[in-house]
Amino acid sequence: MNILVTGGAGFIGSHTCVALVEAGLNPIIVDNFSNANRSVLQGLNRILGKTPVCYEVDCNNLEQMEHILQKEAIDGVIHFAAYKAVGESVAEPIKYYENNIGSLITVLKAMEKTGVEKLVFSSSCTVYGQPDVVPVTEDTPRKPAESPYGNTKAICEDVLRDLVQSGASLQAVSLRYFNPIGAHSSAEIGELPIGVPANLIPFVTQSAAGLRPPVTIFGSDYNTPDGTCIRDYIHVMDLAEAHVKALAFLQNHSKTIYETVNVGTGKGSSVLEVLETFRATVTPMLQFVWGNRRAGDVEATFASVEKVETCLGWRAKRPLEEALQDAWRWQLRLS
Ligand code: UD1
Repeated sequence: MNILVTGGAGFIGSHTCVALVEAGLNPIIVDNFSNANRSVLQGLNRILGKTPVCYEVDCNNLEQMEHILQKEAIDGVIHFAAYKAVGESVAEPIKYYENNIGSLITVLKAMEKTGVEKLVFSSSCTVYGQPDVVPVTEDTPRKPAESPYGNTKAICEDVLRDLVQSGASLQAVSLRYFNPIGAHSSAEIGELPIGVPANLIPFVTQSAAGLRPPVTIFGSDYNTPDGTCIRDYIHVMDLAEAHVKALAFLQNHSKTIYETVNVGTGKGSSVLEVLETFRATVTPMLQFVWGNRRAGDVEATFASVEKVETCLGWRAKRPLEEALQDAWRWQLRLS
């Protein structure tokens, strides 16, 4: 099976290419390299022994997308390509709405034109905001987004829901990712944050490597056992494998279908627990200081994994320690 992977040179996209090949599928990457580095292709080559076919194309380009879908005889699409910086989305909302929603619509139009019916869409637990009850199930009503970035994920989900409701020939799954971290165990590919990392783990590894000051814990007075925020950190290779399972699920359906599925471990970890685990199992070099809450942060969220287990037959295998060790190995490779 030939699987088109938009944003396939990005963090989650590149790891998913590895999982696809390991499952005997053939990934074909489309990436405009606006937020990815071409060296990712060499990393993939060293892991896989071959470089996946890659088109340097913007997936907002309908003509080129139709051409690629046809030429490569694509059987299914995983659509990762999107902007993802929360702060930037607040400053430049049009850029986010235009690119993130526009590219999904272009991909859907190209799929319809060429008769491709299977789609896995990259969504986020950000659509739940602060859930009233944890673990959060897929039936939990979504909350208004905290940022234009988050809103683009909610709108894209609505586009898929409405398209399927219209009776279009489409089998689609939106995967709502919790917090992807880590890197491939070979340290050949990983996350490449630009500038000062906003996310916790890249900041932790850069700080432990001496490239950043001590980590600031954003808030110590949350209503959680140790006062710090709780998240569901999932190893990026586990998340990558969930995409393979989502494609297999779609393969078993020929009629119109749309499902939203959480992808997390089902276990919440506090910021303090993450930092202590890092110090205990990776390196004691990590220092941290206490700081104020970060605007827009939710207190605690982690996934209910019942649906992903029953629907996709998938569950996370890699513990937090392994994800932190892999993130560190990648950091050492970079610095
Ligand atoms: C963030 C995004 C979310 C996106 C997700 C992707 C925001 C507000 N949300 O989620 O939309 O889908 O990344 O992975 O940016 N923390 C510190 N110190 C730091 C950095 C983070 O204490 O230097 C804390 C945060 O307060 C949070 C936790 O670590 O409690 C995780 O933060 P982060 O990695 O940024 O992820 P999210 O905020 O969950």
